[in-house]
Amino acid sequence: TRRQVAVIGAGPAGMLLGHMLRQHGIDVVVLERRDRAYVEGRVRAGVLEQGTAALMARLGLDGRLKREGLVHSGTKLSVDGDTFRIDFAELTAGATVTVYGQQEVMKDLFDAAEARGLDMVFDAEDLRIEDIDTDTPCVRYRRAGADHAVECDVVAGCDGFHGVSRAAIPAGVLKTYERVYGFGWLGILADVPPADHELIYCSHERGFALASMRSETRSRYYLQCAVDERIEDWPDERFWDELCLRLGPEVAARVTRGPSFEKTVAPLRSFVGEPMRHGRLFLAGDAAHIVPPTGAKGMNLAVSDVTMLGEALVAFFAEGSTAGIDGYSARALARVWKAERFSWWFTGLMHRFPDTDPFARKMQVAELAYIRGSRAAQTTLAENYVGLPMGPA
Ligand code: FAD
Ligand code: DHB
Repeated sequence: TRRQVAVIGAGPAGMLLGHMLRQHGIDVVVLERRDRAYVEGRVRAGVLEQGTAALMARLGLDGRLKREGLVHSGTKLSVDGDTFRIDFAELTAGATVTVYGQQEVMKDLFDAAEARGLDMVFDAEDLRIEDIDTDTPCVRYRRAGADHAVECDVVAGCDGFHGVSRAAIPAGVLKTYERVYGFGWLGILADVPPADHELIYCSHERGFALASMRSETRSRYYLQCAVDERIEDWPDERFWDELCLRLGPEVAARVTRGPSFEKTVAPLRSFVGEPMRHGRLFLAGDAAHIVPPTGAKGMNLAVSDVTMLGEALVAFFAEGSTAGIDGYSARALARVWKAERFSWWFTGLMHRFPDTDPFARKMQVAELAYIRGSRAAQTTLAENYVGLPMGPA
């Protein structure tokens, strides 16, 4: 078959791009290795920047988000049990974020795709990308034992960190930058009311903790842990005890304990691959970059990439203009690097590292005290957290 665009990967990046292109009448297919239930079942991000919610709105996909999303106008930081607030709305002329799980976003994107006739292929195995340095690249895959080929004008690589798209860029062209932190986050979900109506990012001598939520009746909590931490070593009681220690007595008194129904470890990593375009292949989201989760940038960065890529591809197909697609990589990377910096900085400020000696801990505590007392420092945190502007095309 012949298509204008083949999108690889049906995560947030791929599905949002698919919807954007379809809305503009571009012939697009989204190819996904797993099935819908698998993609929808993955517990991942929880905080949407305003730009992410705005894109959902432009696509007419924000009905449930508006009804069920929790708008947060600030967040809390806790230092060895002592908590203070950062007021995003007041510091940034009204910006907020919305708590709405990535699983909910995916459900909305898949439901709408079916209703609108956005073409999706699940269970696409052994996918290969060919001829990206020609005007007619080709994507081949196997499905249910049969071989398929999609000839297209453009391939959008939205297949996440472990996908095949990034590897299709020749090694001599792709430059990678990486930081591995050597620890992870152990995350749980439990159907108990959250300890606070806002998120609490907690820096503690024993390690980082985060109190988050999915709704008024569902809590999401994280503890900094070793990358090779064994889940079996963390029965619920141990998790709740450690969480309460790190949050400190005042917040701990408001923690409702209950059985967890999700418990996984995610390693922390920073990664950027440059450029984000080679020939007719364009990378977006985790396929091109990873941020550590501190600051909730991962999914939002995938969304800002595809917002820019979608604009560029619409201009290309509708007007035959190549300025957008030629500028895409530089424009996206300019914002990516700022989000990388913020996530790296916030991770360093809040976590216990192997080399966090007493002096280093004093530096963290002093920086948090400075933030607490400085409107300038709070503004810096707030404007990064709610999401930086997209930048000129
Ligand atoms: P993905 O969501 O990874 O989607 C890529 C899709 O491509 C997947 O559906 C995959 O199955 C598919 N695919 C892969 N290879 C192929 C192939 N060869 N052929 C076809 N399809 C393929 N961010 C936060 O902000 N907060 C968090 O708490 C958080 N937790 C996370 C926990 C984990 C375990 C992980 C992995 C990520 C987490 N993130 C978090 C990051 C956030 O979820 C990602 O940044 C976001 O999902 C990126 O979206 P994406 O569409 O670029 O990639
Ligand atoms: C969540 C994850 C994050 O990485 C973060 O910074 C805030 C919230 C969450 O899963 O709720």
